[in-house]
Amino acid sequence: MKSLSLLLSLTASLALTSASVLDPIPAGASITLPRSVSGPSRFSLLGRGNHKKKKDNWGNAVEKDRKEVKIRASKNDQDDISDDFLWAIKKANHGGLVHLEKGKKYVIGKKLDLTFLKDVYVKIDGELKFTNDIEYWQKNNFYYDFQKSITFWVWGGKDIKIYGNGGVINGNGQAWWDGFSGAEILDPNNVFYRPILFLTDNATNIEITGLHLKDSPCWTTFLVRTKNVVFDDIYIDAVSTNVSSLPKNTDGFDSLNVDGLTVTNTRVNVGDDCFSPKPNTTNIFVKNLWCNGTHGVSMGSIGQYPGVKDYISNAWLENITLLNGQNGARLKAWAGPDVGYGYIDNITYKDIHIENTDAPVVLDQCYFNINETTCAAYPSKVNITNVNFLNVHGTSSGKNGRVVADLTCSPGATCSGIHLEGINITSPAGSPSQIVCDNIQGDIGVECISASEADD
Ligand SMILES: *[C@@H]1O[C@H](CO)[C@@H](O)[C@H](O)[C@H]1NC(C)=O
Ligand SMILES: *[C@@H]1O[C@H](CO)[C@@H](O)[C@H](O)[C@H]1NC(C)=O
Ligand SMILES: *[C@@H]1O[C@H](CO)[C@@H](O)[C@H](O)[C@H]1NC(C)=O
Ligand SMILES: *[C@@H]1O[C@H](CO)[C@@H](O)[C@H](O)[C@H]1NC(C)=O
Ligand SMILES: *[C@@H]1O[C@H](CO)[C@@H](O)[C@H](O)[C@H]1NC(C)=O
Ligand SMILES: *[C@@H]1O[C@H](CO)[C@@H](O)[C@H](O)[C@H]1NC(C)=O
Ligand SMILES: *[C@@H]1O[C@H](CO)[C@@H](O)[C@H](O)[C@H]1NC(C)=O
Ligand SMILES: *[C@@H]1O[C@H](CO)[C@@H](O)[C@H](O)[C@H]1NC(C)=O
Ligand SMILES: *[C@@H]1O[C@H](CO)[C@@H](O)[C@H](O)[C@H]1NC(C)=O
Repeated sequence: MKSLSLLLSLTASLALTSASVLDPIPAGASITLPRSVSGPSRFSLLGRGNHKKKKDNWGNAVEKDRKEVKIRASKNDQDDISDDFLWAIKKANHGGLVHLEKGKKYVIGKKLDLTFLKDVYVKIDGELKFTNDIEYWQKNNFYYDFQKSITFWVWGGKDIKIYGNGGVINGNGQAWWDGFSGAEILDPNNVFYRPILFLTDNATNIEITGLHLKDSPCWTTFLVRTKNVVFDDIYIDAVSTNVSSLPKNTDGFDSLNVDGLTVTNTRVNVGDDCFSPKPNTTNIFVKNLWCNGTHGVSMGSIGQYPGVKDYISNAWLENITLLNGQNGARLKAWAGPDVGYGYIDNITYKDIHIENTDAPVVLDQCYFNINETTCAAYPSKVNITNVNFLNVHGTSSGKNGRVVADLTCSPGATCSGIHLEGINITSPAGSPSQIVCDNIQGDIGVECISASEADD
């Protein structure tokens, strides 16, 4: 065993030397070839030569069969290693692995275009942290028209795995929240844009697991034009140390034009949406999600932009815990004079546990910030069909009196196939609790009243 590992490290350093002649390796970086390439495998030593290699879910090499690329860590929060990181990703692309080691910090101070990826693993056991140079990032970023979003970096390509065992991607959000304090993201006059912590664009097959996504300046994740994205075992939080500037718009999960979005075994502790797919998201699967202090698990908002058709369809959301939030399970669509249209179809919320939440179950067709008069004059044109709320239990905060579910469909749209079953949500404001249903076609499965008869 000893002589074998000697042979391995000898081969690896030889490979390193020959590579460095052609293409200099940044100070402190290294490339280690996998066992199976750098030396004879145990199987062939034992004479079992044609042992079939294990593959990952996408048919690519597993971790131990990958070339491993490491870079130096940052010395402090200003020590930008983004050039080294980009070098490492290019070196590891097409079958390799970038490893950011445990106990080390890697600071990113320059925007990164990572849209050229094909079969790459990025293992984050340490901390990857963005600088908080607001002036730099507001001039240098990737911009998306949708809700005027910007980001530090863009991940795109095919077969990308980003994973760790408690590794951190830190958005260093405090300075951003302080700077933004008092502003509103959907205000047309807002020009203080804040970066999204993790964004994919034009990606197919991307898996993010075992990471802590911390203190994003704005949305935590945004998936754009992406197919098959999986998040598993993720922890998201955004915590301010300044009582006069709380984290804002730090949504857990947002998406646009995505087919195949899975989130499992994840906890989100932020003051905005926990999980909220946006226009044109299909085939959604969420299981074992815990959300604290959030605006809930929402389908939408959609229907924001004039003349544009948006949709969300085929979502299954199971075993969700929602604590101390504004909303629990929600569907939201825009109304007003200059908005779009579309539909939300085939959505199932099952086994939902809600505590101390203002509006546990909501169908809101008067988004965003528009009053009753305007909403009635310019109703939403987003149809909402085939939505199940099954086994939803817990408590409201009592903020909306005894109302624990508010399903009010726009007169400009069709809402049908809305089904509630096993609903047991109590309100501290009194009992029996109330379920509001207005303009919903057909029987919703439980007793309900009109908004005009309800507490407010
Ligand atoms: C999307 O990525 C593929 C490669 O994965 C590339 O061929 C294509 O040009 C990209 N499309 C756009 C619009 O960038
Ligand atoms: C806290 O946030 C407020 C509002 O943005 C800001 O004026 C103040 O300087 C911040 N305090 C600290 C200690 O940064
Ligand atoms: C439901 O999710 C919670 C995490 O919020 C988890 O602890 C629990 O094991 C899950 N229950 C089932 C039946 O999977
Ligand atoms: C939940 O969020 C509240 C603030 O909304 C916070 O005080 C509490 O510590 C959080 N609970 C957990 C378990 O993180
Ligand atoms: C959603 O898809 C439709 C095509 O079905 C497209 O016209 C629309 O622009 C898309 N919406 C957004 C916000 O990209
Ligand atoms: C509804 O969505 C589920 C996934 O949650 C999917 O399996 C089913 O095929 C969809 N039904 C229709 C009619 O598309
Ligand atoms: C909404 O439903 C109405 C009536 O069923 C239908 O005419 C309209 O085409 C639907 N709109 C969309 C965007 O599906
Ligand atoms: C509702 O909002 C519109 C547009 O902002 C405004 O003109 C109108 O005065 C408001 N009506 C009420 C009753 O607040
Ligand atoms: C509703 O939940 C409460 C506790 O939250 C429980 O005491 C009650 O038995 C439940 N009712 C039904 C019909 O399950």
